[in-house]
Amino acid sequence: KIVPVIMAGGKGTRLWPLSRAAAAKQFIRFVGDKTLFQGTLLRVADGHLYEPALVITNEEFRFLVAEQARELDSKLSGIVLEPEARNTAAAVAAAAVVVSELYGEDAIIQILPSDHDIVVDDAYRNCVKAAAKAAQAGRIVTFGITPTEPATGYGYIELGKDLGDGAFGVKRFVEKPKTEAAEKMIESGNFYWNSGMFVFSVSQILAELEKFAPEVLAAARASAEKATKDLDFTRLDKDAFVKSPSISFDYAVMEKTPNAAVIPSPITWSDLGSWDAVWKIGQPDADGNVVHGNATVIGTRNSLVMSRNSHLAVQGMDGVAVIASEDAVYVGRLDESQKVGDLVKLLASRK
Ligand code: GDD
Ligand code: MG
Repeated sequence: KIVPVIMAGGKGTRLWPLSRAAAAKQFIRFVGDKTLFQGTLLRVADGHLYEPALVITNEEFRFLVAEQARELDSKLSGIVLEPEARNTAAAVAAAAVVVSELYGEDAIIQILPSDHDIVVDDAYRNCVKAAAKAAQAGRIVTFGITPTEPATGYGYIELGKDLGDGAFGVKRFVEKPKTEAAEKMIESGNFYWNSGMFVFSVSQILAELEKFAPEVLAAARASAEKATKDLDFTRLDKDAFVKSPSISFDYAVMEKTPNAAVIPSPITWSDLGSWDAVWKIGQPDADGNVVHGNATVIGTRNSLVMSRNSHLAVQGMDGVAVIASEDAVYVGRLDESQKVGDLVKLLASRK
């Protein structure tokens, strides 16, 4: 069985003001009655395919994780807490060390981001099984999503030689390219987007980290060795963990390893990273507006309008996001959603 590792420590700043330091996007109910994190837990609830999930998150999200898992009655393998964020390479490394203690070095891990919307159907299950098979053969496996636009927020995977059983080698992995490079890759037709999920064996990932990110692995090992435990929580040792360089798993390992593989995956997938993505997956009215909560629109088209609290009314707008949280309001063009992170930086600098 596969050990699912859910990464839930990101801050999701581009979804300000709903996603913020106190409650990042994965813990928010955007649409429907489940949060993205809960959706991720449900994705790995199938006991035939998966062991109970291991969640790795930031110390400050521990109550959100525990409470939202309890709401679903989800059994967990544990909750690993990072004292400070050191990006995803450190999270993957620490999780791999913990999984090796719990399930041994032969265990197969599936890394799952907690900010995605994915439909679990036979296509998804078949891709996961194919990935597990390639992982047993020593591959670091990614799921390839057919790209639809030259988005710059994703990793791009160039298809290599056929490895059989639905898996292909990877000629090149390019994390978050500039627009021009992304356009070229899409034109060439031989590229997929990286879905952000990864499948590998514990022994193989430890070997890759040793080779390409030895300081990250050393910090993960030392912090896990000195970790303290209470209830479901494993608290990584702070002094040891903060020594890890802050780098994402994509740059640290995926761009470098010769052992990557990709499963071209016909799955229904969406990274809810920005307001335009939330608008795209919503249920639009006849004018293309997606409206949630206490809000009214008139004479408005192709817009996302959400209010948590006070009544929000929008008139005569086109292609905008108007988002009201309990204590802040955002108004911006949907086609500039990728830039909300800059705004959040500006706000933080003024505090
Ligand atoms: N535990 C922990 N600690 N989790 C983290 C941390 C951390 O320091 N930083 C981020 N995460 C979690 C996020 O909550 C998210 O679930 C996941 O790790 C991925 O991080 P993102 O910050 O959302 O990455 P991204 O979307 O920019 O890029 C990744 O995903 C893309 C697809 O959505 C990359 O893998 C890209 O190559 C990929 O295309
Ligand atoms: Mg993401």
